Amino acid sequence: MPKRQYVEITIDGKEVRAPMGEKILWAALEAGIEIPHLCAIREADPPWGGCRLCWVEVEGRGLVTACTEPVRQGMVIHTDTEAVRRLQRRALELILADHPMECKTCPKRPSCQLLRWMRFLKVKIPKDLRPFPKELVEPDESHSLFVFDRNKCILCGKCVWVCKEVEGVGVLDFAYRGYQMRVTTFLGKPIAQTPCTGCLRCVEVCPVGALYLKEGAEGKEREEHLGEVP
Ligand code: FES
Repeated sequence: MPKRQYVEITIDGKEVRAPMGEKILWAALEAGIEIPHLCAIREADPPWGGCRLCWVEVEGRGLVTACTEPVRQGMVIHTDTEAVRRLQRRALELILADHPMECKTCPKRPSCQLLRWMRFLKVKIPKDLRPFPKELVEPDESHSLFVFDRNKCILCGKCVWVCKEVEGVGVLDFAYRGYQMRVTTFLGKPIAQTPCTGCLRCVEVCPVGALYLKEGAEGKEREEHLGEVP
């Protein structure tokens, strides 16, 4: 097996050694430096880069998304500049403007990554951007173990990736374009009418309340399916 090569970079003044080709995001997180992110999956190649939350500034290069930009020898990276925070806040506000803020009743509240980054970036619900014209749909409760509430989907693509690339099933995928883009099943069928295996990986990786377990689903059936989730 070829020996892995490393590069030396600087992130926020800290010297960091990272595997060549590693994306800035993972090098920073490994070094204990927080960068907001919602859609990144380390194993995904190419990265989806859809949430636009992980902006950083690279000296001599400018603003880049950390989940898509590989480290290079001698790179000097800043994660906390005014320009970085401005872009991150705006990206988060745009996501929030299309997200029903039903946090009090949301089953994913304790682990919600939107709330996490709202606190981190000190972002409030953007009143100036609300409400986007949104057609609310009934959550899909057809599956015995979990609910798919498309209204809360932030299009991070994590469920699509694990369903296709890890499980090899491909029940969920993106459909339509632009503002109409959504994650859905083939022909929009209820999950129960698809080849879903009930592995629940999509529920595990969903950073918000778009996919969540039904009450009482924390049972044997679930444990049998769950392995290491990226
Ligand atoms: S985490 Fe980089 S664009 Fe979403």
